[in-house]
Amino acid sequence: MASSCLLFHVHFSAQKPSKCSPPSFDHFKSTLSSAFKPFLKEIQQLPSRIDAGVKNTSLELVDAFVDSVFELVDQPLLPSQSNFAPVDESKEGVQVTNIDGKIPDDFAEGVYIRNGSNPLFGALTSASSMFGSSSNIWVEGEGMLHALYFCKCRDGSWTVVYKNRYVETDTFKLEKQRNKPSFLPTLEGDSPAVLSACLFNMLRFGKVNKDVSNTNVFEHAGKLYSIAENCVPRQINILTLQTLEDWEVKGAWNRPFCSHPKILDQYVSDLCNIMKQKAPGSGELVIMGIDATKPFAEMGVISEDGKKLLHRVDLKLDRCILCHEIGVTQRYIVFMDHPLLFGLKRVVEGGSLIKYEKEGDARIGIMPRYGDADSIQWFKVKPNCTFHIFNCFEDGDEVVMWGCRALDSIIPGPEKGKNKFDWFSRKLRPINSSEGSIDDQVSEEELVFPRPYEWRMNMQTGDVKERNLTGTEFAMDFPFINDAFIGLQNNYGYGQVRDSVASSASGMAKYGGLAKLYFGEQSPESYLREEQGLIKVEYHIFEKNTFCSGSAFVPKDEGVDEDDGWVITFVHNEDTNTSQVLIIDAKSFTSKPVAKITLPYRVPYGFHGAFMPMPLQNEMLTIIPAFNSKISNQAGKTR
Ligand SMILES: [Fe+2]
Repeated sequence: MASSCLLFHVHFSAQKPSKCSPPSFDHFKSTLSSAFKPFLKEIQQLPSRIDAGVKNTSLELVDAFVDSVFELVDQPLLPSQSNFAPVDESKEGVQVTNIDGKIPDDFAEGVYIRNGSNPLFGALTSASSMFGSSSNIWVEGEGMLHALYFCKCRDGSWTVVYKNRYVETDTFKLEKQRNKPSFLPTLEGDSPAVLSACLFNMLRFGKVNKDVSNTNVFEHAGKLYSIAENCVPRQINILTLQTLEDWEVKGAWNRPFCSHPKILDQYVSDLCNIMKQKAPGSGELVIMGIDATKPFAEMGVISEDGKKLLHRVDLKLDRCILCHEIGVTQRYIVFMDHPLLFGLKRVVEGGSLIKYEKEGDARIGIMPRYGDADSIQWFKVKPNCTFHIFNCFEDGDEVVMWGCRALDSIIPGPEKGKNKFDWFSRKLRPINSSEGSIDDQVSEEELVFPRPYEWRMNMQTGDVKERNLTGTEFAMDFPFINDAFIGLQNNYGYGQVRDSVASSASGMAKYGGLAKLYFGEQSPESYLREEQGLIKVEYHIFEKNTFCSGSAFVPKDEGVDEDDGWVITFVHNEDTNTSQVLIIDAKSFTSKPVAKITLPYRVPYGFHGAFMPMPLQNEMLTIIPAFNSKISNQAGKTR
């Protein structure tokens, strides 16, 4: 996830920095604390009122000051982190012919698309100055979309095209025009450095952070959007991957929203009909927007045509939470109020901008779809940090949420970015290891080890029941389901399985396989375990040193069962430096992939992917203008 959520308007006077070098933190802490505290309210509340006449000259001076005072350097990557390095933009489509196996005849025609972090200038940036140092964190690269187009020919054969392209936000264009990294890093580092970076970014560019639309894609009302928590979604032309415009719902919604909004569809009781009746864009979109200033969290409902904000409500939270995903049921919206918090005040007092406050309260809020803060029913839950949800649904008096629960946060990483590799390496260790080189036994509390988990909230009694759904062999995250079952009780969920040994060795999370969870079936070994009530899980583990990202479920067109379809995923083999897309039959999950599509270029590890079913036969010349094959010929004959 991308985790900046800074939409400040600033009116302030810059304090001349001390000439002391290197800085004494205590000195800066007291100086900055007293200097900036009076401005906090203004930073949070006032629109920019810098006079335009003075502005240009002042900005040139500020630019010159920043250029002379701040040294920006690239953050290096280890060899084991090589596939986190960015790639060049291709823009134009390339036909892919290297396919091992067979794309199924009944596979859906459409586009598999994935978002991810791809730093524009080749690497994430660190800055050092008299204020200390600050650095980008690993989720802060510019968004790049990677798309694989599956076009079915009239003779039944498949044509596959790959392309990638940057999401061109305003700050992407600005930095590209300047031809150098220009925003100073703000999310980790010494407090004076972070504060000064916030202020100088605000002065020069009118915003504290870059807009990195790098986390997810979603479709609503027939339009594709790129999304992250730190900027409003960007509409994307799905055929060209060109960035179109910001989506502010005609000016009615003026803040970013969480990267996993949910579409509400017309629910029907006959589950077999759900997949057939559900059409993309047929429902309203539920969104949750967070901000560093009050109101800290707002919920919104957007009309099914995407043009109107039907409902907007302040949840009246008293802290800025970094809530990354919400859930919906037939009647309710479900959201997490966990102590992963953003706080400028904390920076002024010498702490981190983002912090998981382990001792803080964790609770789950359940609100009627068109409810307000007063109608939220709150359930206090055990401390946890959960980014992702499989699904939520109603079961009698209970609302059930299944998510990937960890006991610490992978974002932002270590306090002030110190000893970053050691921190991630330690936090990503396996709980049990047979490797010998890593501690044999580590407690879950010491790790960032997301595990599938169930919360059952009883709306009548107010009670909540919690349990782990899987054991400690594997950490799992990036869950997904057959989207036709969002908000309804489902039987199957899928997740990416972390290779904890490889992750610990590289200090970056790597997913060496996939899991299929059978929510309604008990694990055959459950009665043997210390922990009862675990569910059945099947694993699809990739070949050695191969890791995935952006996995998604592709439903079968005429599917009847919930798991009629395929799991599709980008993988990269680090031994051969080869990137592929795998198609795995969800009903035969442990079998080898039905198709391995070898891509012409390396695709770095990224975040979330989705499959967008759509007819493409008449779109090939837009997808790949140089295309000249039987597809266009055959399409021409039928016109
Ligand atoms: Fe996410």
